[in-house]
Amino acid sequence: TLQSVIKGTGSALPARCVTNADLAQKVDTTDEWIIERTGIRQRHIAGQGETTATLATDAARAALSAAGIAAGDIGLIVLATTTPDNTFPATATKVQALLGIDDCVAFDVAAVCSGFLYAVSVADSMIKNGVARHALVIGAETMSRILDWEDRTTCVLFGDGAGAIVLSAEEGDGSKGVLASKLHADGRHGPMLYVDGGPSTTQTVGFIRMQGREVFRHAVTNLASVLTETLDAAGVAPDDVDWVVPHQANRRIIDATAKKLGLSPDRVVMTVDQHANTSAASVPLALDCAVRDGRIRPGQLIVLEAMGGGFTWGASVIRL
Ligand code: ACO
Repeated sequence: TLQSVIKGTGSALPARCVTNADLAQKVDTTDEWIIERTGIRQRHIAGQGETTATLATDAARAALSAAGIAAGDIGLIVLATTTPDNTFPATATKVQALLGIDDCVAFDVAAVCSGFLYAVSVADSMIKNGVARHALVIGAETMSRILDWEDRTTCVLFGDGAGAIVLSAEEGDGSKGVLASKLHADGRHGPMLYVDGGPSTTQTVGFIRMQGREVFRHAVTNLASVLTETLDAAGVAPDDVDWVVPHQANRRIIDATAKKLGLSPDRVVMTVDQHANTSAASVPLALDCAVRDGRIRPGQLIVLEAMGGGFTWGASVIRL
């Protein structure tokens, strides 16, 4: 049978780093408040010339190089973003052009913070259906451009960045690569976390609006349930998991979810202190950090999970 296996990972961050102390000069907040409530210490913010597509392309190049695969061998690009360069064309096609790929399947996926989980699931299915042998699966965001920089309840929480993986078809017995993915959405909760603009409504880009407490409550419940469901589908126990790579929204959500499942904090990758919430980029960015610093190694069993606007949520169990 065909397995879809992670061949390489990559990531990219904007050059400029903004600390909590920097933000405290702009809005009524403090370093202590932000660290205590979220675990965030700093975030990278895109400057002029840095866009979702340029960050995505840098991350993709790093993943291709780690995988030892040429751009021309890529047959599929799935890019998860909620901050595309333009309303259309899809940012995936811009990345394709920047990588010098003349012809492949390329499209964006919109599932906000769960976007990368949706993208992995879609790419996994397409690879197993023979659409492409090598896929780039990317999460990339410039959240800073949809933040209301006068709203302290949201502007301190987000950052910009990109992460990418090369997912490739490999013949095997089904024990390697993406073992199981589960996705969910419940649009009734849209008003709890949304952007108050868009092409078809206001013809503006809009700003993020959020009911933080409600989002927090749903996040822990939904993440714990989808993690259990996905581990069951993969036929593995929580104890078999080497690393959990969670969406990096908030340290307290990550800790509470791990605790609910009885997962040791030593096996949870945490980068929210460095990057804040980079939405669809956060899971592949955290994954790449842990691969590059040697924590995550070939042969290990990892679990990716995320929850975001919609609400949408999902998880994937992957044997490296
Ligand atoms: N600095 C200082 N004070 C602040 C700030 C700030 N940046 N933001 C809010 N406050 C104040 C509030 O005004 C409020 O003051 P009041 O008591 O005088 O009214 C007080 O702090 C408490 O506000 P709460 O919103 O109740 O604080 P809470 O403990 O819930 O923390 C937070 C807020 C961090 C947003 C939390 O609810 C949370 O993490 N929610 C999850 C949201 C999230 O992660 N969203 C990301 C997208 S979804 C996802 O990725 C899962």
